[in-house]
Amino acid sequence: MTPHTSPFCHSPIRATLFTPPALPPRSACDMPPEITGDPSMADYAFPHRHLLGIEGLNRLDIETLLELGDKYVELNRQRVKHAGTLNGQTLVNLFFENSTRTQGSFEIAGRRLGADVVTMPIATSSVKKGETLIDTAMTLNAMRPDLLVIRHPSSGAVKLLSRKVDCAVINAGDGTHEHPTQALLDALTIRRRVGDIGGLKIAICGDILHSRVARSNVACLNILGAEVRLIAPRTLTPPGAADWGAKIFTDMRAGLKGCDVVMMLRLQQERMDGAYLPSAREYFHFWGLDEEKLSHAKPTAFVMHPGPMNRGVEIESGIADHKTRSLITEQVEMGVAVRMAVLETLAKNAPEIGLATGTATATATGTATGTTTGTTTGPGIGVKTR
Ligand code: NCD
Repeated sequence: MTPHTSPFCHSPIRATLFTPPALPPRSACDMPPEITGDPSMADYAFPHRHLLGIEGLNRLDIETLLELGDKYVELNRQRVKHAGTLNGQTLVNLFFENSTRTQGSFEIAGRRLGADVVTMPIATSSVKKGETLIDTAMTLNAMRPDLLVIRHPSSGAVKLLSRKVDCAVINAGDGTHEHPTQALLDALTIRRRVGDIGGLKIAICGDILHSRVARSNVACLNILGAEVRLIAPRTLTPPGAADWGAKIFTDMRAGLKGCDVVMMLRLQQERMDGAYLPSAREYFHFWGLDEEKLSHAKPTAFVMHPGPMNRGVEIESGIADHKTRSLITEQVEMGVAVRMAVLETLAKNAPEIGLATGTATATATGTATGTTTGTTTGPGIGVKTR
């Protein structure tokens, strides 16, 4: 197997379907130069049919979704949380990897907008009988869903499926590639708590190598004008990360200096194919967020984590639960609002669809290979020793 060279898919362990396009260096990001002042979003029509990644979005696209997300935060804080904008439409959740927050929040988001929501039980589905990914998609397509939310352990799988179905597709995380709604919900959380993201110093710390959250966040925060820092042991820093438009650090204290926001990441063991760290203890000692390390960030710095957290491995419990500094539960709340915004925006863009165009050939290329979907539920990180 040839290793990927793209910064979006660096790891040969996930090289199962195809190489997703590389994240362009910051200077080449899709950032329309004309948007300098206060862009008017009133007349802006979100031009995309699917949400496959942050890559390919521009600042107006992102801000349009965040504005609508803001409105849904307010609705979600009311006693009655229904908006009928997806009345009569069908949303299908197709999660080939375990998920609590993302799957749950897409379900809630769809229901609050009035859609009929079906979450496919993958564990008991035909996938387990050897059906190819594309056959599964074609079958679902024939049921005429309007929105398909997909999580898959292979980078590029969601894009592949988006070409085979007639409905709007939302990437809920593909391998180590992208997790666009996580980046959007993180941006909404920061915007609401800190204000304008432009000029903020934001550190993303931990297992960057295996993190689709980091990739989508670097892209999103760069477009919104933040100074992004990546802090990780050398073994968990992707080769080529220096081209992502972020500053790279191996030392937490140096990287956190003066930061407004500190995002912690889980060690994603299910994607590790070898020894990356000597031990969990040593990892926490050098890269786990505790009060002393956090004291190098701004005194007002906020702490974030996409979840699931491994307390005592990448983050000290007291910080995760800190009443004023931790935004972790707020991120979950923003997740529902942002997903409502995404679903509504894509549903509006949907062309009048006919039945499956029948273009897909159900070949083995779409087979869900490499589905090492092991989940880490326990607190230990089970790192291998050298
Ligand atoms: C993240 C993911 O699945 O990539 N979690 C999430 O969506 N809430 C991060 C992780 O699994 O560590």
